[in-house]
Amino acid sequence: MCGIIGYWNIDNEALPILSGALKKLEYRGYDSFGFATLNNGQIYIEKQIGKISEVKYNNIPGRVGIGHTRWATHGGVTKQNSHPHKDCTGKIAVVHNGIIENFQELKRRLVDEGHKFLSNTDTEIIPHLIEEKLASGLDLKQSVIKISKILKGRNAFIVLDAETNEMIAIRNGSPLILGLKDKEVFIASDIPAFLDKTKEVIYLDDGQLAVIRNERPEFYDINTGKRIIKRLIKIDWNQNQAEKGSYAHFMLKEIIEQKNTIVAAINQDETQLVRVAREINNATNGVFFIGCGTAARVCHIAEYIFSKVANKRINYIPASEFENYKHFLSPETLVIAVSQSGETADVLDALKIAKSKGAKIISILNVIGSSMSRISDYTFHINAGPEKAVASTKATTSQIAVIILLSYACSGKIKDGEKLLMELSGEINDMLNPRYQEHIKNIATILSDEKVQNMFIIGRGINYPLSLESAIKIMEVSYINAQGFAGGELKHGPIALIENGTPVIVLVADDNDKAKILSNAMEVKSRGAYIIGISPDNNNIFDYWIKTPRVDSVGSAIANLIPIQLLSYYLGVAKGYNVDYPKNLAKSVTVN
Ligand code: AGP
Ligand code: GLU
Repeated sequence: MCGIIGYWNIDNEALPILSGALKKLEYRGYDSFGFATLNNGQIYIEKQIGKISEVKYNNIPGRVGIGHTRWATHGGVTKQNSHPHKDCTGKIAVVHNGIIENFQELKRRLVDEGHKFLSNTDTEIIPHLIEEKLASGLDLKQSVIKISKILKGRNAFIVLDAETNEMIAIRNGSPLILGLKDKEVFIASDIPAFLDKTKEVIYLDDGQLAVIRNERPEFYDINTGKRIIKRLIKIDWNQNQAEKGSYAHFMLKEIIEQKNTIVAAINQDETQLVRVAREINNATNGVFFIGCGTAARVCHIAEYIFSKVANKRINYIPASEFENYKHFLSPETLVIAVSQSGETADVLDALKIAKSKGAKIISILNVIGSSMSRISDYTFHINAGPEKAVASTKATTSQIAVIILLSYACSGKIKDGEKLLMELSGEINDMLNPRYQEHIKNIATILSDEKVQNMFIIGRGINYPLSLESAIKIMEVSYINAQGFAGGELKHGPIALIENGTPVIVLVADDNDKAKILSNAMEVKSRGAYIIGISPDNNNIFDYWIKTPRVDSVGSAIANLIPIQLLSYYLGVAKGYNVDYPKNLAKSVTVN
C-alpha cells in the first residue's frame, strides 16, 4: 500500500509536480498525505489528514522533493504518523511503502541511545538508522545499503538528504519505477504518477537502489555494492487511459471499457498459448491457480472453466493459504498466478515458495513489468490498460477471457475459444448501452432507498464462484453485507436469514443448471425473498430482471459479472460513497 513519489529537476517548483503525482497514486492509499522539499540546505515538510484531492495544504519551496499518500499499517491516521518522517537532525526525510517487521526491537535500541521519535510508525526508524550510520562515517549510499540489510519485510523507500542534496530510492519487495525526461527525474510506486510527463521508464528490481543528484541517476546492486546499468524502456500507455475523462468515476469508465477489453485480452501469442497449454497438460504433479481477493475468485472460476472446456482438474488456492500446500510442490508442478497489479504481497510470497520447490511459474497480469512478471517463466499480459478504481472490473473479465482461451488451447481448440470470446465481446458491446445502465441504476436506487443491509447471491456451476466475486464487489463498493452461495447450499443454513424483502440475486446461465437454480430461487422466494434475476431469459419468479447475452455457461462467467459490477457501482453511488476509493481498502495490497 501507500503511493510514494520523488522528483528532481532544476527549473520547476517540486510541490505541484509531487501533488499531481500523488493524486494519481491515491488508489494505493488515501488516509493522509505529506511532502518534503529541499531548499537552501533545509528540509520543509507539509502533511495533512485525508485525501490529497479533497484537502488543502500549504506551499513549501524547493525543486527537489518526495511525497507520500498513506494506507496506515503501523500507527493510526494522524498528522504525526503521516509521512515523510525525519531524523533527529532534521536533515534526512523519508517516505516509505511497506512494513518493517522488526521495527520494535530496532526502535527500542534507538530510543535507548537517545533518538527522539515523534510517530508510532515503523517507518520512522529509517531516518534515525540513516542518521546513526552517517554519524559513524558512512556516506548516504553506504548507509542506506547497510540498513536495507537490517530491515525485515517487504519495503521500498525514498530518502532526501539536505546535507548532500541527494535523493536515494531503494526497492526491497515493493515496486519503484523511475521516469526520465530531459532534466527531470521521477521515482514512483507506479507509472501513472508521471505518465503525463514521460513514457521513458526504468524499473528498479528488488535489491537495487538509485542515487539521484542530477538528471542521470546511478544504479547500484545492494548485495555487491557495485554500480549497474539499467535498461530504459519506452512504454506505450496513453494518458487518456489513466484519466477518467467525462466519466463520474474510474469504476464506471472501466466497466464500460469492457466493450473493448475482452478483444484486447485475447490478443495473445498463439505459440505461447500452445506451449503453456502443453505445460498444463504435462504438469504431472498438479496445476495450481493462485491469487487474492477478486483474483482468487477468478482462480476459482478457472477451476470450473478447465473442468468444462478441457476436462482438466486444476487446483485453486487463495495465495495467502498457499504455504499449507507447499509439500505438494515439485519441478513437475505448474503454478499460475492471477493478478491485476502483479505486486500483491501474498501472491509474491506464494510464488517464492513455488520457485524454491522448482515449480514452473506462469502469470496472468495487467501491469507490465511488475514484480510477478519478473519472477515468472512466462507472463500473459491481459492488455486491459490502467485500472485505477480500487474495485477490479475490466481486469477481472480480461483475466477470465485469457483463462477461457488457455482452457481451449489445452483441449486443442484455440480457434473455438477465440470465436466464443469474439462473439461475447460483440454481445457485451450491445449490452452496455445507456438504457441498460439506467435500468440497473433504477434497481440500485430502489435497493438503496429500502436501506437494504444484507443480500445474497446464488449461482450453480461456474456461477457459484461468480456469486462469491459478486459478493466481494457489492460489499467493497456499497458496504452492504453480501454473501455468495452455491444455489444448493443456501438451504443448509443461511436460509434462516431470509425474511420478507431480503434481496437475493440469482445468477442464471443457459445451461444444465438452469432449472435447478430457478428452483433454489423459488425456495427463497417462498420465504419472503425478492429476486433479482441476472439471466438471458425473464421468469415470473423474478421481481426484477437484468438481461444477459445468451452465451454458454463458460461465457456467462464474463457476461453475468458485468451487470453485477454495474449494480455494485450504482449502489455505492446511490448511497453517496466514493466508489473509486472504498474505505479501508487500497488497490495494491503490498503488505501481508
Ligand atoms: C478487487 O475488487 C479487490 N479490491 C481486491 O480483492 C483485489 O482483487 C486483490 O487485492 C488482488 O489484487 P491484484 O489483482 O492486484 O493481485
Ligand atoms: N508502514 C508504513 C505506515 O504505516 C507504510 C504503510 C504502507 O506502505 O502500506 O505508515
